[in-house]
Parts: sequence; C-alpha cells; structure tokens
Amino acid sequence: MPTISDFTGKVVLITGSSSGIGATTAIEFSRSSAQVVTTGRKAENVTQVANKCHKVSPKGLKALEVVADVTKEDDCRRLVDTTIKSFGKLDILVNNAGKGSHNSLYDSHLMDSYDEVMATNLRSVVYLTHLCAPHLEKTRGNIVNISSVVALGRSREQYDEFLDERAKSLPLGRVGDPIDIANAVLFLASDESSFVTGANLLSDGGSLNA
Ligand SMILES: NC(=O)c1ccc[n+]([C@@H]2O[C@H](COP(=O)([O-])OP(=O)(O)OC[C@H]3O[C@@H](n4cnc5c(N)ncnc54)[C@H](OP(=O)(O)O)[C@@H]3O)[C@@H](O)[C@H]2O)c1
Repeated sequence: MPTISDFTGKVVLITGSSSGIGATTAIEFSRSSAQVVTTGRKAENVTQVANKCHKVSPKGLKALEVVADVTKEDDCRRLVDTTIKSFGKLDILVNNAGKGSHNSLYDSHLMDSYDEVMATNLRSVVYLTHLCAPHLEKTRGNIVNISSVVALGRSREQYDEFLDERAKSLPLGRVGDPIDIANAVLFLASDESSFVTGANLLSDGGSLNA
C-alpha cells in the first residue's frame, strides 16, 4: 500500500508548476515516485522544473511538459487531453496556478485586473475540474485546490516588510516556505487522507489563530 512518500503509479497534474509552490509540489511528487505533469505559460521555466523532477525521481521518470495558459479553454483541454493521451489516466489534480492583484480601487484598469485574477484563480479551477472529473472518477482520484488566507495589494518592499512583521506575529514565528504547502498537498493527495473530503486544510503557521 502506498505511503505518503510513495506515489508509485500515480499521475499528478499540477497547474502553475513552473515556479513557487507548484514547482516545489511537482518536485516532491516526483521524489515520491509519481508521474508528474508540469505546466505553466513560460516554456523555459516548465522545462527547468521538469528537469528537476527527473533528477529526483527514484525511477528516473520524466515529467510531461505542457505549456498552457489556464485562462484559455483550448489550452485547458489540450493540457488534460495530452495528459490522458500520454498516461491513459489521471489520479491527482492540483489546482495551484494563481496570481495576486496589486490594483487599488481607484485604478482605471481595476476591472481588467479583476477579470484576469478571476479567470486565473477561479474560472480555470472550475473548468479544469470539469474536464478532469470523469478521469478522476475512474481512478477514484482526488483534487487539491491551493488558495490563500490573505489578499495582498502591496509593492515588493512592502511585501518583504509584511513578511518580516508577519513572521513575528505568527504562533510558529516564521512565514511558510513552498515546501510547507507541498507537504500538505502530498498528504491530501495520499491514501493516508482517504477519509478526508471537502476539507479546508490550513497550512498557515497559525495565522488565523494569531
Ligand atoms: N506565495 C504565497 O505567499 C501564497 C500564499 C497563499 C496562497 N498562495 C497561492 O498559491 C498558489 C501559488 O502561488 P506562488 O506564490 O507559488 O505563485 P508564483 O510563484 O507566482 O507561481 C504561480 C504559478 O502559476 C502559473 N500561472 C499564473 N498564471 C497562469 C496562467 N494564466 N496560466 C497558466 N499558469 C499560470 C505561473 O506560471 P507561468 O508564469 O509560467 O505561467 C506559476 O507557475 C497561488 O494560487 C497563490 O494564490 C500563495
């Protein structure tokens, strides 16, 4: 029986896996013997992550690379179709691609930015879930959605200051690293959490309790 560190035979599609949390999650799934699909809009970054996945995979599995924009329905269909064509199935979908908005209420482009955020963070999740559900049903697979406890509208400097201050105020005394989220994703996708469904798992260093 697979353990949390053994995803042998599992096909895992992680959106937004060309950087950050998604990249670390893809690498951790690969380290745990999963067959990973890496995707994002920037081909070079997708390839870099795929190479890292290949390096850590105990079975030397090569990640499938798909360059796609999740806000485009054609790209979403191609992403899922290519995955199924390549591996014949899908076990785990991680909806991770997302972006923040740095607009103020007075910004003239506010609604364009709003539409882009909603298309990336919400609409794509609904559409990809719609496309993947029949395949996940067959494998009795699962879906992990990545979200946030905060919505930020800050500059880089303000964000760094925010993180320093935030670390002091968190019960755990530090802000999270991508690996913290990747570990939570692997747990939710594993057999160890097979009785967990529809749950909101907070991996937030105690942020909501601070
Ligand atoms: N970092 C945090 O503190 C934090 C906190 C709470 C929640 N989150 C959530 O965690 C998730 C990942 O965040 P992160 O910090 O790792 O972000 P990140 O480093 O900016 O990575 C975002 C990923 O999403 C991809 N992406 C963005 N727009 C896309 C699009 N239209 N089509 C396809 N791929 C797209 C990017 O790839 P390309 O650029 O190659 O397209 C990239 O791989 C997000 O959903 C975010 O809201 C992050």
